[in-house]
Amino acid sequence: MRARIAGTGSYVPERVMTNADLERMVATSDSWIVARTGIRERRIAAPGEACSDLGMKAAERALEAAGITAADLDLILVATCTGDAPLPSTACLIQHRLGAVRAAACDLSAACCGFVFALAVGDAYVRTGFRHVLVVGSEVMSMLIDWTDRNTCVLFGDGAGAVVLSPTEGEQGILSSHLHSDGNLWDLICVPGGGSRMPPSEKMLAEGLQFIKMKGNETFKVAVKTLEEAAREALAANHLSVADLDLYVPHQANFRIIKAVADRLGLPMEKVVLNMDRYGNTSAASIPLALDEAVRAGRVKKGNLVLIEAFGSGLTWASSVVRW
Ligand code: ACO
Repeated sequence: MRARIAGTGSYVPERVMTNADLERMVATSDSWIVARTGIRERRIAAPGEACSDLGMKAAERALEAAGITAADLDLILVATCTGDAPLPSTACLIQHRLGAVRAAACDLSAACCGFVFALAVGDAYVRTGFRHVLVVGSEVMSMLIDWTDRNTCVLFGDGAGAVVLSPTEGEQGILSSHLHSDGNLWDLICVPGGGSRMPPSEKMLAEGLQFIKMKGNETFKVAVKTLEEAAREALAANHLSVADLDLYVPHQANFRIIKAVADRLGLPMEKVVLNMDRYGNTSAASIPLALDEAVRAGRVKKGNLVLIEAFGSGLTWASSVVRW
Protein backbone atom coordinates (compact mmCIF):
# COMPACT_ATOMS: atom_id res chain seq x y z
CA MET A 1 0.00 0.00 0.00
CA ARG A 2 1.16 3.52 -0.80
CA ALA A 3 -0.36 6.99 -1.21
CA ARG A 4 -1.68 8.39 -4.46
CA ILE A 5 -2.48 12.02 -5.11
CA ALA A 6 -6.28 11.96 -5.12
CA GLY A 7 -6.84 15.69 -5.65
CA THR A 8 -4.99 18.99 -6.02
CA GLY A 9 -5.85 22.63 -5.38
CA SER A 10 -4.19 26.02 -5.26
CA TYR A 11 -4.83 29.66 -4.50
CA VAL A 12 -2.95 32.91 -5.08
CA PRO A 13 -3.75 36.37 -3.67
CA GLU A 14 -5.41 38.85 -6.03
CA ARG A 15 -2.77 41.58 -5.98
CA VAL A 16 -0.27 41.34 -8.84
CA MET A 17 3.15 43.00 -8.45
CA THR A 18 4.88 43.32 -11.82
CA ASN A 19 8.55 43.86 -12.61
CA ALA A 20 7.54 47.38 -13.66
CA ASP A 21 6.26 47.97 -10.11
CA LEU A 22 9.65 46.83 -8.76
CA GLU A 23 11.46 49.20 -11.16
CA ARG A 24 9.83 52.01 -9.21
CA MET A 25 11.05 50.60 -5.85
CA VAL A 26 14.68 49.48 -6.41
CA ALA A 27 17.45 49.88 -9.02
CA THR A 28 16.36 47.03 -11.27
CA SER A 29 14.75 46.50 -14.65
CA ASP A 30 12.17 44.20 -16.17
CA SER A 31 14.76 42.98 -18.68
CA TRP A 32 17.29 42.10 -15.91
CA ILE A 33 14.70 40.20 -13.86
CA VAL A 34 13.29 38.30 -16.86
CA ALA A 35 16.73 37.43 -18.25
CA ARG A 36 18.23 36.34 -14.89
CA THR A 37 15.19 34.65 -13.31
CA GLY A 38 12.32 34.19 -15.80
CA ILE A 39 10.00 36.03 -13.38
CA ARG A 40 7.61 38.67 -14.79
CA GLU A 41 5.19 39.17 -11.91
CA ARG A 42 4.29 37.75 -8.51
CA ARG A 43 1.24 37.80 -6.19
CA ILE A 44 1.28 39.65 -2.88
CA ALA A 45 -1.09 38.91 0.02
CA ALA A 46 -3.45 41.70 1.06
CA PRO A 47 -2.88 43.38 4.43
CA GLY A 48 -4.27 40.98 7.03
CA GLU A 49 -4.25 38.02 4.60
CA ALA A 50 -2.25 35.29 6.32
CA CYS A 51 -0.73 31.91 5.52
CA SER A 52 -3.78 29.97 6.74
CA ASP A 53 -6.11 32.09 4.56
CA LEU A 54 -4.19 31.10 1.42
CA GLY A 55 -3.69 27.49 2.53
CA MET A 56 -7.35 27.10 3.46
CA LYS A 57 -8.55 28.05 -0.04
CA ALA A 58 -6.03 25.70 -1.69
CA ALA A 59 -7.10 22.93 0.71
CA GLU A 60 -10.81 23.38 -0.05
CA ARG A 61 -10.10 23.00 -3.77
CA ALA A 62 -7.95 19.90 -3.21
CA LEU A 63 -10.67 18.29 -1.06
CA GLU A 64 -13.28 19.03 -3.72
CA ALA A 65 -11.05 17.55 -6.45
CA ALA A 66 -10.47 14.42 -4.33
CA GLY A 67 -14.20 14.06 -3.67
CA ILE A 68 -13.85 13.84 0.11
CA THR A 69 -14.87 16.12 2.96
CA ALA A 70 -12.71 17.64 5.69
CA ALA A 71 -14.23 15.20 8.20
CA ASP A 72 -12.60 12.34 6.24
CA LEU A 73 -9.08 13.64 6.96
CA ASP A 74 -6.77 11.79 9.36
CA LEU A 75 -3.83 14.17 9.13
CA ILE A 76 -3.12 17.73 7.97
CA LEU A 77 0.47 18.74 7.26
CA VAL A 78 1.29 22.34 6.39
CA ALA A 79 4.70 23.12 4.93
CA THR A 80 5.54 26.75 5.55
CA CYS A 81 8.18 29.15 6.84
CA THR A 82 5.69 32.05 7.08
CA GLY A 83 2.92 30.65 9.30
CA ASP A 84 0.27 32.90 10.85
CA ALA A 85 2.14 32.98 14.20
CA PRO A 86 4.70 30.92 16.15
CA LEU A 87 1.79 29.26 17.97
CA PRO A 88 -0.52 27.56 17.22
CA SER A 89 0.50 25.76 14.06
CA THR A 90 -1.02 27.00 10.82
CA ALA A 91 -2.16 23.40 10.27
CA CYS A 92 -4.37 23.62 13.40
CA LEU A 93 -5.85 26.90 12.18
CA ILE A 94 -6.68 25.27 8.83
CA GLN A 95 -8.08 22.21 10.62
CA HIS A 96 -10.35 24.45 12.69
CA ARG A 97 -11.66 26.39 9.70
CA LEU A 98 -12.15 23.30 7.53
CA GLY A 99 -13.93 21.44 10.35
CA ALA A 100 -11.53 18.50 10.02
CA VAL A 101 -12.58 17.22 13.41
CA ARG A 102 -10.79 13.85 13.30
CA ALA A 103 -7.46 15.05 11.87
CA ALA A 104 -4.15 15.46 13.65
CA ALA A 105 -2.46 18.61 12.40
CA CYS A 106 1.04 20.07 12.47
CA ASP A 107 3.41 22.27 10.48
CA LEU A 108 6.63 21.18 8.82
CA SER A 109 9.55 23.53 8.22
CA ALA A 110 11.98 22.82 5.40
CA ALA A 111 11.77 26.14 3.50
CA CYS A 112 11.30 25.68 -0.26
CA CYS A 113 11.62 21.89 0.18
CA GLY A 114 8.84 21.81 2.77
CA PHE A 115 6.14 20.47 0.47
CA VAL A 116 8.27 17.58 -0.82
CA PHE A 117 9.28 16.66 2.75
CA ALA A 118 5.62 16.85 3.86
CA LEU A 119 4.53 14.72 0.90
CA ALA A 120 7.01 12.03 2.02
CA VAL A 121 5.72 12.19 5.61
CA GLY A 122 2.10 12.00 4.41
CA ASP A 123 2.94 9.01 2.21
CA ALA A 124 4.63 7.27 5.15
CA TYR A 125 1.48 7.71 7.28
CA VAL A 126 -0.77 6.39 4.52
CA ARG A 127 1.50 3.34 4.29
CA THR A 128 0.91 2.75 8.02
CA GLY A 129 -2.89 2.90 7.71
CA PHE A 130 -3.97 6.57 7.68
CA ARG A 131 -6.66 6.98 5.03
CA HIS A 132 -6.70 10.61 3.90
CA VAL A 133 -3.87 13.09 4.45
CA LEU A 134 -4.02 16.74 3.41
CA VAL A 135 -0.61 18.20 2.49
CA VAL A 136 -0.53 21.99 2.08
CA GLY A 137 2.30 24.30 1.03
CA SER A 138 1.41 27.89 1.88
CA GLU A 139 3.59 30.98 2.07
CA VAL A 140 3.36 34.72 2.58
CA MET A 141 6.97 35.29 1.54
CA SER A 142 6.31 39.04 1.21
CA MET A 143 6.54 39.29 5.03
CA LEU A 144 10.21 38.23 4.85
CA ILE A 145 11.17 40.61 2.05
CA ASP A 146 13.23 43.76 2.39
CA TRP A 147 11.65 45.84 -0.38
CA THR A 148 14.86 47.90 -0.64
CA ASP A 149 17.07 44.84 -1.36
CA ARG A 150 17.12 44.20 -5.11
CA ASN A 151 19.03 40.94 -4.60
CA THR A 152 15.99 39.29 -3.03
CA CYS A 153 12.83 41.39 -3.51
CA VAL A 154 12.49 40.50 -7.19
CA LEU A 155 12.48 36.75 -6.53
CA PHE A 156 9.64 35.86 -4.18
CA GLY A 157 5.84 35.81 -4.14
CA ASP A 158 2.87 34.59 -2.08
CA GLY A 159 0.61 31.60 -2.77
CA ALA A 160 -0.58 28.18 -1.71
CA GLY A 161 -1.08 24.70 -3.09
CA ALA A 162 -2.46 21.49 -1.62
CA VAL A 163 -2.90 17.81 -2.34
CA VAL A 164 -5.02 15.05 -0.80
CA LEU A 165 -3.23 11.72 -0.34
CA SER A 166 -5.34 8.54 -0.28
CA PRO A 167 -4.34 4.88 -0.18
CA THR A 168 -3.90 2.72 -3.25
CA GLU A 169 -2.64 -0.77 -3.90
CA GLY A 170 -2.30 -0.45 -7.67
CA GLU A 171 0.42 0.89 -9.96
CA GLN A 172 -0.48 4.49 -9.12
CA GLY A 173 0.96 6.62 -6.37
CA ILE A 174 4.15 7.93 -4.80
CA LEU A 175 6.82 5.45 -5.92
CA SER A 176 9.70 7.01 -4.00
CA SER A 177 10.79 9.95 -1.84
CA HIS A 178 14.40 11.01 -1.33
CA LEU A 179 15.09 13.70 1.26
CA HIS A 180 18.46 15.40 1.85
CA SER A 181 19.87 18.16 4.05
CA ASP A 182 23.26 19.80 4.54
CA GLY A 183 23.22 22.12 7.55
CA ASN A 184 26.81 23.15 6.77
CA LEU A 185 25.24 25.39 4.14
CA TRP A 186 22.74 27.02 6.55
CA ASP A 187 23.97 30.54 5.78
CA LEU A 188 23.32 30.45 2.02
CA ILE A 189 19.68 31.45 2.62
CA CYS A 190 18.55 32.58 6.07
CA VAL A 191 16.42 34.97 8.10
CA PRO A 192 18.78 35.96 10.95
CA GLY A 193 16.27 37.54 13.36
CA GLY A 194 12.85 36.94 14.85
CA GLY A 195 13.52 33.55 16.42
CA SER A 196 15.08 32.46 19.73
CA ARG A 197 18.64 33.26 18.52
CA MET A 198 17.73 36.88 18.02
CA PRO A 199 14.26 37.67 19.38
CA PRO A 200 12.46 40.69 17.95
CA SER A 201 13.90 43.97 19.25
CA GLU A 202 14.10 47.55 18.05
CA LYS A 203 17.77 47.01 17.15
CA MET A 204 16.99 43.85 15.19
CA LEU A 205 14.22 45.59 13.25
CA ALA A 206 16.38 48.66 12.60
CA GLU A 207 19.07 46.43 11.11
CA GLY A 208 16.51 44.62 8.93
CA LEU A 209 17.43 41.20 10.36
CA GLN A 210 13.82 40.01 10.09
CA PHE A 211 14.30 39.82 6.31
CA ILE A 212 15.64 37.06 4.08
CA LYS A 213 19.37 37.14 3.26
CA MET A 214 20.68 35.08 0.39
CA LYS A 215 23.98 34.32 -1.28
CA GLY A 216 22.27 34.00 -4.65
CA ASN A 217 25.21 33.05 -6.80
CA GLU A 218 26.45 30.24 -4.51
CA THR A 219 22.89 28.98 -4.02
CA PHE A 220 22.46 28.85 -7.79
CA LYS A 221 25.45 26.53 -8.27
CA VAL A 222 24.50 24.19 -5.41
CA ALA A 223 20.89 24.09 -6.66
CA VAL A 224 21.82 22.95 -10.17
CA LYS A 225 24.19 20.28 -8.83
CA THR A 226 21.87 18.87 -6.16
CA LEU A 227 18.77 18.88 -8.41
CA GLU A 228 20.58 16.96 -11.14
CA GLU A 229 21.94 14.44 -8.60
CA ALA A 230 18.55 14.05 -6.90
CA ALA A 231 16.81 13.44 -10.22
CA ARG A 232 19.33 10.74 -11.17
CA GLU A 233 19.05 9.18 -7.70
CA ALA A 234 15.23 9.06 -7.90
CA LEU A 235 15.19 7.57 -11.39
CA ALA A 236 17.85 4.96 -10.53
CA ALA A 237 15.95 3.91 -7.40
CA ASN A 238 12.91 3.16 -9.59
CA HIS A 239 14.92 1.56 -12.45
CA LEU A 240 13.73 4.35 -14.74
CA SER A 241 15.47 6.57 -17.29
CA VAL A 242 14.97 10.25 -18.08
CA ALA A 243 13.09 9.21 -21.23
CA ASP A 244 10.45 7.49 -19.05
CA LEU A 245 9.41 10.81 -17.50
CA ASP A 246 6.22 12.45 -18.75
CA LEU A 247 6.39 15.55 -16.58
CA TYR A 248 8.98 17.34 -14.41
CA VAL A 249 7.61 19.65 -11.71
CA PRO A 250 10.57 21.51 -10.19
CA HIS A 251 10.64 24.18 -7.49
CA GLN A 252 10.02 27.47 -9.31
CA ALA A 253 13.01 29.48 -8.08
CA ASN A 254 14.71 30.49 -11.30
CA PHE A 255 14.17 29.57 -14.96
CA ARG A 256 17.95 29.35 -15.53
CA ILE A 257 18.36 26.79 -12.71
CA ILE A 258 15.55 24.64 -14.15
CA LYS A 259 16.86 24.94 -17.73
CA ALA A 260 20.39 24.00 -16.61
CA VAL A 261 19.08 20.90 -14.79
CA ALA A 262 16.87 19.88 -17.73
CA ASP A 263 19.79 20.31 -20.15
CA ARG A 264 22.13 18.23 -17.97
CA LEU A 265 19.50 15.49 -17.73
CA GLY A 266 18.68 15.66 -21.44
CA LEU A 267 15.03 16.38 -20.60
CA PRO A 268 13.05 18.38 -23.23
CA MET A 269 11.59 21.64 -21.86
CA GLU A 270 8.10 20.64 -23.16
CA LYS A 271 8.02 18.16 -20.26
CA VAL A 272 8.84 20.82 -17.67
CA VAL A 273 6.09 22.66 -15.74
CA LEU A 274 6.93 26.37 -15.44
CA ASN A 275 4.91 29.12 -13.77
CA MET A 276 7.55 31.28 -12.09
CA ASP A 277 6.86 33.94 -14.75
CA ARG A 278 3.51 34.61 -13.03
CA TYR A 279 4.23 33.78 -9.38
CA GLY A 280 7.99 33.97 -8.72
CA ASN A 281 9.40 31.75 -5.98
CA THR A 282 6.59 30.91 -3.55
CA SER A 283 8.82 28.63 -1.44
CA ALA A 284 6.88 25.63 -0.08
CA ALA A 285 3.84 26.58 -2.18
CA SER A 286 5.73 26.49 -5.44
CA ILE A 287 5.45 22.79 -6.33
CA PRO A 288 1.81 22.14 -5.31
CA LEU A 289 0.81 25.36 -7.11
CA ALA A 290 2.62 24.28 -10.31
CA LEU A 291 1.30 20.73 -9.99
CA ASP A 292 -2.30 21.91 -9.57
CA GLU A 293 -2.05 24.15 -12.62
CA ALA A 294 -0.64 21.26 -14.67
CA VAL A 295 -3.41 18.91 -13.50
CA ARG A 296 -6.18 21.43 -14.23
CA ALA A 297 -4.65 22.19 -17.65
CA GLY A 298 -4.88 18.47 -18.51
CA ARG A 299 -1.09 18.04 -18.67
CA VAL A 300 -1.10 15.06 -16.26
CA LYS A 301 -2.86 11.91 -17.43
CA LYS A 302 -3.51 8.63 -15.68
CA GLY A 303 -0.41 6.45 -15.83
CA ASN A 304 1.97 9.40 -16.41
CA LEU A 305 5.28 9.43 -14.58
CA VAL A 306 5.91 12.70 -12.75
CA LEU A 307 9.16 13.79 -11.09
CA ILE A 308 8.82 16.44 -8.38
CA GLU A 309 11.96 18.16 -7.08
CA ALA A 310 12.90 21.03 -4.80
CA PHE A 311 15.84 22.66 -3.06
CA GLY A 312 15.94 25.40 -0.49
CA SER A 313 17.23 26.95 2.69
CA GLY A 314 18.85 24.58 5.15
CA LEU A 315 20.23 23.56 2.71
CA THR A 316 17.62 20.96 1.78
CA TRP A 317 16.85 19.12 -1.44
CA ALA A 318 14.32 16.39 -2.15
CA SER A 319 12.53 14.44 -4.86
CA SER A 320 9.38 12.44 -5.32
CA VAL A 321 8.46 10.13 -8.20
CA VAL A 322 4.72 9.78 -8.73
CA ARG A 323 2.82 7.44 -11.07
CA TRP A 324 -0.39 9.37 -11.78
N1 ACO B 1 18.38 44.08 -10.67
C1 ACO B 1 19.49 44.49 -11.29
N2 ACO B 1 20.73 44.07 -10.96
C2 ACO B 1 20.81 43.18 -9.96
C3 ACO B 1 19.69 42.71 -9.28
C4 ACO B 1 18.42 43.21 -9.66
N3 ACO B 1 17.28 42.80 -9.08
N4 ACO B 1 20.09 41.82 -8.33
C5 ACO B 1 21.42 41.74 -8.44
N5 ACO B 1 21.88 42.57 -9.40
C6 ACO B 1 23.23 42.81 -9.85
C7 ACO B 1 24.25 42.43 -8.80
O1 ACO B 1 24.41 43.51 -7.91
C8 ACO B 1 25.47 42.19 -9.64
O2 ACO B 1 26.05 43.42 -9.99
P1 ACO B 1 27.66 43.59 -10.02
O3 ACO B 1 28.12 42.61 -11.06
O4 ACO B 1 27.81 45.03 -10.39
O5 ACO B 1 28.11 43.23 -8.65
C9 ACO B 1 24.90 41.56 -10.92
O6 ACO B 1 23.52 41.92 -10.95
C10 ACO B 1 25.02 40.05 -10.97
O7 ACO B 1 24.62 39.53 -9.71
P2 ACO B 1 24.60 37.99 -9.44
O8 ACO B 1 24.16 37.76 -8.03
O9 ACO B 1 25.89 37.38 -9.87
O10 ACO B 1 23.45 37.55 -10.45
P3 ACO B 1 22.99 36.10 -10.82
O11 ACO B 1 23.07 35.91 -12.25
O12 ACO B 1 23.61 35.06 -9.91
O13 ACO B 1 21.42 36.16 -10.44
C11 ACO B 1 19.97 35.44 -8.70
C12 ACO B 1 21.03 36.44 -9.12
C13 ACO B 1 18.77 35.64 -9.60
C14 ACO B 1 19.59 35.71 -7.26
C15 ACO B 1 20.50 34.00 -8.87
O14 ACO B 1 21.78 33.90 -8.28
C16 ACO B 1 19.61 32.96 -8.24
O15 ACO B 1 18.50 32.74 -8.68
N6 ACO B 1 20.10 32.23 -7.22
C17 ACO B 1 19.36 31.17 -6.61
C18 ACO B 1 18.41 31.71 -5.61
C19 ACO B 1 17.41 30.64 -5.21
O16 ACO B 1 17.01 29.87 -6.04
N7 ACO B 1 17.02 30.53 -3.97
C20 ACO B 1 16.09 29.46 -3.70
C21 ACO B 1 15.90 29.13 -2.42
S1 ACO B 1 15.01 30.34 -1.54
C22 ACO B 1 14.38 29.57 -0.13
O17 ACO B 1 14.65 28.44 0.15
C23 ACO B 1 13.52 30.37 0.77
